[in-house]
Amino acid sequence: MTPPIAPIDELDDILALLRACDLPVADIAPGPAQQFFGLRDGLGLIGVVGLETMGAVGLLRSVAVAPAYRSQGLAAQLVAFGEARARAQGAEQLFLLTTSAADYFIRLGYRPMEKSKAPPAVQATAQFAGLCPASSVLLCKALGRPAADSSK
Ligand SMILES: CC(C)(COP(=O)(O)OP(=O)(O)OC[C@H]1O[C@@H](n2cnc3c(N)ncnc32)[C@H](O)[C@@H]1OP(=O)(O)O)[C@@H](O)C(=O)NCCC(=O)NCCS
Repeated sequence: MTPPIAPIDELDDILALLRACDLPVADIAPGPAQQFFGLRDGLGLIGVVGLETMGAVGLLRSVAVAPAYRSQGLAAQLVAFGEARARAQGAEQLFLLTTSAADYFIRLGYRPMEKSKAPPAVQATAQFAGLCPASSVLLCKALGRPAADSSK
């Protein structure tokens, strides 16, 4: 059975997993502006997803699953969880930058977008402004309305 996805505030755990997965860590600062959610097993954090929401747009980031736990659908669950949280916080579009996993996110419904067309709030994030290399690809997904709004 998959353990529940829950908020993660322990910086050291997040850093260790992101480093093990070769993702950038320079701006990681869990808090209201940078939320992290993850999966744990008995040994520690095995999967993580980060979310920054800025009104109607959000940045999904730091999606990582420990190598021994891959290909079990855990990242797909983490992404879906991040999307639901983003929607609940009012985001209508979710963006992400990746150097190595664009095809993975395209399978989950994300579409490539020219970086110059990203909303200013997304361009202003540390990840966008410099942490991710120029070779990274910007992907975007339109989010449906939150379930509570669907009857309106
Ligand atoms: C990308 C990543 C999060 C996927 O985690 P996961 O839990 O194995 O993913 P899922 O189980 O949901 O999906 C597995 C499928 O995705 C495919 N996949 C995994 N990584 C991929 C990648 N980088 N590009 C394309 N497809 C990929 C697998 O081959 C597998 O395909 P299959 O279902 O046809 O066998 C994980 O490989 C990882 O942590 N990579 C390093 C960090 C990273 O690149 N993060 C993304 C940028 S933020």
